[in-house]
Amino acid sequence: MGRLTGRRAVITGGANGIGRAIATAFAREGCDVFFTARADEDAARSVRAELREHGVRADYMLLDGADPDSATRLLDTTAETLGLADILVNNAGTATRTGFLDLTFEEYERVMAVNLRFPFFTTQAFAARLRAADTPGSVINISSISATKAISAMAHYQSSKAGLSMLTRSASYELAPFGIRVNTISPGLTATNANAVQWRDDPDLWRERGKDIPLGRTGNPEDLAGAAIFLASDESAWMTGGDIVVDGGEAAV
Ligand SMILES: NC(=O)c1ccc[n+]([C@@H]2O[C@H](COP(=O)([O-])OP(=O)(O)OC[C@H]3O[C@@H](n4cnc5c(N)ncnc54)[C@H](OP(=O)(O)O)[C@@H]3O)[C@@H](O)[C@H]2O)c1
Repeated sequence: MGRLTGRRAVITGGANGIGRAIATAFAREGCDVFFTARADEDAARSVRAELREHGVRADYMLLDGADPDSATRLLDTTAETLGLADILVNNAGTATRTGFLDLTFEEYERVMAVNLRFPFFTTQAFAARLRAADTPGSVINISSISATKAISAMAHYQSSKAGLSMLTRSASYELAPFGIRVNTISPGLTATNANAVQWRDDPDLWRERGKDIPLGRTGNPEDLAGAAIFLASDESAWMTGGDIVVDGGEAAV
């Protein structure tokens, strides 16, 4: 408790899934949180109320990461609401399952815009503010083990995540002189809205899928929170450009 007291985080996609679990864990550790939701305002309101129960400041804005000005609007609104944020979690992501030969230009563009362009320019806007204030900070990019391991019908998603993982390394190099660290968390298969059709509609198949994972189960959003607290806090002060794989061991085999 209290490992992030006095810190201010901006989290994209904080109303559901992994982003929500990270927002909750950060608030429990004393961190103020500003998060985005795309469409699910009911969930956003209830997450805001939950976060405030931990005695921290919390608020949200509705934002579509595919909009070209989304990064600027997010950082401007965060500054107006919380002041200078020193933790950024690029968590928002989207995916469709479409075979490589059937993928349209529009589908490719949307996934790339949300999963790669949005975090790219959000990181840039976040770092520019910190540098101007001569303040250190931490960026956490939520990538995926599928950035390095091919699966079918997700070439656009996997390319976006591979790009995000490389963004971590490029930005970490250029931002290190300003004390701004940039790291990746690569989750494995985790039960969220993104794959609800699998675990809600066919729990037996989902359990079977878990048996292929060395630790014997699929993940829950809360499984990702510990790595995020570590990367946000000074416990990881000498870590940048790195990747924490949280996947029950799937990528190792
Ligand atoms: N679940 C997995 O197995 C898994 C594995 C590896 C990596 N990941 C990554 O983990 C991250 C979180 O996903 P999740 O699994 O927690 O799924 P999720 O519950 O569906 O969360 C995705 C989040 O991204 C937001 N989002 C989606 N499209 C957006 C857009 N156009 N603009 C702004 N925000 C948008 C959603 O907002 P709304 O809820 O308001 O729509 C939601 O908060 C993603 O980057 C995903 O790629 C997930």
